[in-house]
Amino acid sequence: MIKAIIIGATSGIGKSLAEKLVIEGYLVGITGRREEMLKILEENHIGKILSMKMDVQDLSSIESICNELVIKLGGLDLLIISAGIGEENKLLDFSIENNVIKTNVQGFTCVADWGMNYFKKQGHGHLVNISSVAGIRGNGLAPSYNSSKAYQINYLEGLRLNASKSNSSIHVTDVRPGFVHTAMAKGDGLFWVSPVEKAAEQIYAAIKRKKKVVYISKRWRLISYILKAIPYSILKKL
Ligand SMILES: NC(=O)c1ccc[n+]([C@@H]2O[C@H](COP(=O)([O-])OP(=O)(O)OC[C@H]3O[C@@H](n4cnc5c(N)ncnc54)[C@H](OP(=O)(O)O)[C@@H]3O)[C@@H](O)[C@H]2O)c1
Repeated sequence: MIKAIIIGATSGIGKSLAEKLVIEGYLVGITGRREEMLKILEENHIGKILSMKMDVQDLSSIESICNELVIKLGGLDLLIISAGIGEENKLLDFSIENNVIKTNVQGFTCVADWGMNYFKKQGHGHLVNISSVAGIRGNGLAPSYNSSKAYQINYLEGLRLNASKSNSSIHVTDVRPGFVHTAMAKGDGLFWVSPVEKAAEQIYAAIKRKKKVVYISKRWRLISYILKAIPYSILKKL
């Protein structure tokens, strides 16, 4: 049985992925801060989902909680990081920016490093992170969110390069959604919004193919090319 952990599976993409993996016969460990949501998922999938409460901002607890969850599962083949937050912050309130950095940068890095070191020790494994198309360019309304996703995109490439120097069979997949219909996708002007179940199907297909980078849905690749190419003078009018 393939063993997976999903960090941030109490709602949205992480929850949908947990349900998809159960259907596909995986044993799934899930984490998040909302214990009641973790328990509901566990009760709905007895013996197939195991949970542990974990706040990725509490860096000192990550290693021990992840290790304990691996013991409960009896091993680990796949680690998916879906924990993330984003908030508009036009007035540049540092406490809001810092909260995003603590989760999307520090928490992400701590979990990813733990997972990569675990996979290196056992000689194989697959790390998947949900970054975002938002990581391609800056955003005046939510500067910390876009830059945290840029950090994740770059860090994942670094981890892939790092693993390539070892003798292990380690894969790193960077999932870059455009918009997915979850609590996080708020505000007007959203387009090409994927239903969360469809996003989970596409992410699962990319995991099976061990893709390095995947856009959800596929047509967001086009937006990412456009975003990369447009000059700053046009970006500031969007
Ligand atoms: N929805 C979109 O349009 C979209 C687009 C691009 C990228 N993404 C990315 O996809 C990922 C998942 O987001 P989503 O859309 O599925 O939103 P969501 O429904 O809000 O899910 C976010 C998940 O992250 C967990 N989380 C947040 N802060 C945490 C913390 N400090 N410690 C542990 N877990 C934490 C939440 O669990 P608890 O609250 O229970 O802790 C929840 O399970 C995020 O990284 C997001 O940036 C989403």
